Formats: sequence, C-alpha cells, structure tokens
Amino acid sequence: MCHDCSGPPLSSRRSFTRFLAAGAGLTVLTACTPEAPGAAAASSAPSSASPSPVAATASATTTAEAAAVPPAAPEAAPAPSPSAELPRQFSLTDPASPWLIVNKRRPLVPAAYAPADLVRPAVAMTASGEAALLNSTTAAAAEAMFAAAARDGVSMVLASGYRSYATQVATYNSYVAARGQADADTASARPGYSEHQTGWAFDIADGNGACGFQPCFADQPAAVWAKANGHRFGFVVRYPWMFHPITGYYYEPWHLRYIGVEAATDMASKGIFTLEEYFGVEAAPGYL
Ligand code: DAL
Ligand code: ZN
Repeated sequence: MCHDCSGPPLSSRRSFTRFLAAGAGLTVLTACTPEAPGAAAASSAPSSASPSPVAATASATTTAEAAAVPPAAPEAAPAPSPSAELPRQFSLTDPASPWLIVNKRRPLVPAAYAPADLVRPAVAMTASGEAALLNSTTAAAAEAMFAAAARDGVSMVLASGYRSYATQVATYNSYVAARGQADADTASARPGYSEHQTGWAFDIADGNGACGFQPCFADQPAAVWAKANGHRFGFVVRYPWMFHPITGYYYEPWHLRYIGVEAATDMASKGIFTLEEYFGVEAAPGYL
C-alpha cells in the first residue's frame, strides 16, 4: 500500500478553480486524435504552497545567541488529499494498481510495463489487434458501462484500448513528424508515459461515428453520457476541459480511465476533476 500526499493544498485548488472559471469564456482548446493530429501547445501553471503562519510566531526567545540564529521554521503538515478519506487505499505508483497516476512527471516503472491480464471486452468496437484489449478489471467495468449506456439508448464504441510501449513509440513519433515535438506533447504521451500502456484506459467513439477524436465529440451522446455516468462504473474523463495546466493534455472527452467506483464516485460528488488533485500529487504540465 502506498499513498503520496505531496500535492497542492486546498487553497491552491480553489485558486485554480477560480482561474478556470475566469478562463471558461476563452476559445475552446482542441485536443488530439491518434488519426488526425492538430492541437495547440499546452501552457503551464505550477502551484506553490503558502508559507506557514506558524513560522512567524515560533521565534520568541530571550537569548542573544538564539536571536542571532533564527530557529528553523516547523514543517507545515501536508494537507490530506481528498482520496485519503476512502476506506480502501491503493498504490499510486504500481502500474497494476487502479489508482496508478502516470503523467508527464510520473513515468511508468518499468517503462516497458505490460499488463499480465489483457482481455478483449465484449463490447462494440472499431478497435482491432492489441487496441481491442484492456486489463481484466477495466474490461469488466467497460462491459457493464457500455451495456448501461445501451439501455439508455446510447451507442458507445471502443475506439482504442491497450497500446504497448512499442506501439506508443510509433504513435508518438507520428505525432512528432506531423506537428513537431512541442505540439505532439500536448496530445500524445511519450513512450512509457501513457495510460493506454496500462490497460486502465481507453478511448470511446459514438455509434453514430460523428466527431471521432475531435473536440466536437464532447457533444456526442456517448461523450455526454460517459461524462455524466462513467463514475458509476469506476471511470473518469482523465483529461477534462481547461485542466491542461494540471494534466498536461488538452480536453480529451473520449479518454476514459478506470479508478474504481468508490474513488470515481467520490471525485464526482466532491467536484474534483483531475487525479492529480484528488490523490494529492503535483501538477504535470510538462516533462521534467
Ligand atoms: N492521448 C493520451 C494522452 C495518450 O497518448 O496516452
Ligand atoms: Zn486515450
């Protein structure tokens, strides 16, 4: 069991939320598609902790020596992350953990990790080959979610699932060739940094075929349904709109990530949109 609580304090999140609200009227920033690269570069907005007020009051002393050498400020206790309230905790670093956080600051270890339990879910799909696979937990959750969507009259399709390290090399290189590295990095993870390599994530399309991997996919029935209901099956939209300073990627309404029903539902009820904030790890606007 492992839990990393080194993330920004709640006050930083609230500030960032206000920043997002202020920026909500800006031009919609587009995201990527494996098939049709075309997104703009991400900006960064690292957060910083406030100094502790305790440090200002802890230096009262009567000796000249102590006055000449200011005492060390006591360390501020890290704010507990929202996920700490859940009864069950999972590793944030093990690629086989549903709470794994992989982003531009947190590579997969080992880089060439491959899940041991890849299976082909029984869902509608346009994906083929390894892209039709998910790890067994995610596959079962996807089957339940696609079936529930269908009961609501929504046609959800698996467009892209597992990608091996070797496939991610080819995918990322094709983005770089088409758009240059800076732009590629806003849409495609570098090899060893993609959730697709873990089997915990997949991209969806709508059965109507409209707006695949395009910003307008956000308005398609499958995307609207997944955003509203995905948490009931353990999924989150991993790269939400306007959170690229935290996630490192522009809005990908098609990219769903399994973290378990408990955590996904808790995130939804708390109104927290990114795994970085929920699990209390630093923002990942770019590679180190
Ligand atoms: N498009 C996402 C970030 C990936 O390449 O994993
Ligand atoms: Zn994806």
